[in-house]
Amino acid sequence: MDAAFNAELERRTKEVQEVIEGTFRSYLQRKDHAYVHTMIEAMDYSFLAGGKRLRPLMMRETYRLFQGGTGFVPSELAAFMTALEMIHTYSLVHDDLPAMDNDEYRRGKFTTWKVYGDGMAVLAGDALLNAAYEIAFDAIQSGAVGIQGGAMEIQSDAVDAAGEADLQRLARIAKCGSLLSGKAGLDGMLGGQVADVEAEKKSLSIDMEKILFIHERKTAALIETAMGIGACLAGADDAQLKAVLRIARKVGVAFQIQDDILDVIGDSKDLGKSVGSDAKSGKETYVTLQGLEASKAEVERLSKEAVEELKSLPGDTQFLEQLILHLIYRKK
Ligand code: IPE
Ligand code: IPE
Ligand code: MG
Ligand code: MG
Ligand code: MG
Repeated sequence: MDAAFNAELERRTKEVQEVIEGTFRSYLQRKDHAYVHTMIEAMDYSFLAGGKRLRPLMMRETYRLFQGGTGFVPSELAAFMTALEMIHTYSLVHDDLPAMDNDEYRRGKFTTWKVYGDGMAVLAGDALLNAAYEIAFDAIQSGAVGIQGGAMEIQSDAVDAAGEADLQRLARIAKCGSLLSGKAGLDGMLGGQVADVEAEKKSLSIDMEKILFIHERKTAALIETAMGIGACLAGADDAQLKAVLRIARKVGVAFQIQDDILDVIGDSKDLGKSVGSDAKSGKETYVTLQGLEASKAEVERLSKEAVEELKSLPGDTQFLEQLILHLIYRKK
C-alpha cells in the first residue's frame, strides 16, 4: 500500500491515541485511588498497552465524512471514542481469560490475567465497561447542561432556533449511548462471544450460518458502533446511518475473517498476541470451514463491496476507502 497513506494513517492514529489516552487518564484521575489502586493499575495496563485503535479511528473518520472534515474533535466525540475503545479493551481482557481463550499475550505484553490474576482481570474488564458507560453518560449530561431549561421551553412551544439545535444535539448524543450499549450487549459483541464459546462444544455442529452470526456480533458490532456513532454525532440522517452500518458490518466481518487467517499464518511478533490460539482450543473458524484461499477471497470481496458503497456517501471518502483496503492485507 501507498507509503503516503501509511504515513497519514500513522499520523491520524497518533492523534486518536492522544484523544483517548487523555480522556482515559483524566477519568482515572477523578477516582479515589485509596483502596483500588491495583484495579486502576490493571485498567491502565490493559488500556494503555496500545493496539491499533482502529475503532476510535473509524469513529472519528466517519464523523469527519459527515461533518465536513476539519479534524476538530468535540468533547462528545472524544467521550464516545474513548468509551468504545474501553469496551473493546474489556472484551479482550475477558476473551483472554483461562476460562475463555486462555491466551498469554496481547498487544505485545502479557495478558491482564497473567499479570494481575484471573479475579483482578475479571474485575478490570468490569471496571473498564462501567467506566465506558460513565464517560458516555457524562457526555449526555454535559449536552443536557447545555440546554438547561430548554426542555421546559419546548413544552411551552417557545423554543428558539439555538435551543432547538441544542436539543437535537442532545438527542443525537443520547442515541449514540443507546447504540453503544445495544451493540456491546447480547444483540452484539457479547452475544457473539456467547455463541463463540458455545460453538467450541463439540456436540454442537457449526456451519457457515453460525460462523457469520458470530462474526457479525463478536466483531462487526463494535465496528458498526464506531462508524455509526461517528455518523450519528455528525448529524447523518436515518438513511445515511443505515448505509454506514451496512458498510461497517462488511468491514467488521472481513476484519474477523482476517483475524482467523492471521491466527493461522500470522507472526506473533507483528500481531502482539499468540498465533495458533484457535487451533489450540480446537475452534472451528472461517478458515477451518472454508480453507485459507477462500477466506482471503472473502475478505477481499467484502472489503471491496464496502468501499463501493462508501463512495455513495457524501464528503471525502478517500481516507476511509484506503483504510478498508489496507485492512485486507493487514499483518497485525
Ligand atoms: C482483536 O481486535 C479482537 C478482534 C475483534 C479480532 P483488534 O485486532 O482490533 O485488536 P487491537 O485493539 O489492535 O489490540
Ligand atoms: C474475539 O475474537 C473478539 C472479541 C469480541 C474479543 P478472538 O478471540 O478471535 O480475538 P483474538 O484473536 O483473541 O484477538
Ligand atoms: Mg475469542
Ligand atoms: Mg481470543
Ligand atoms: Mg482471533
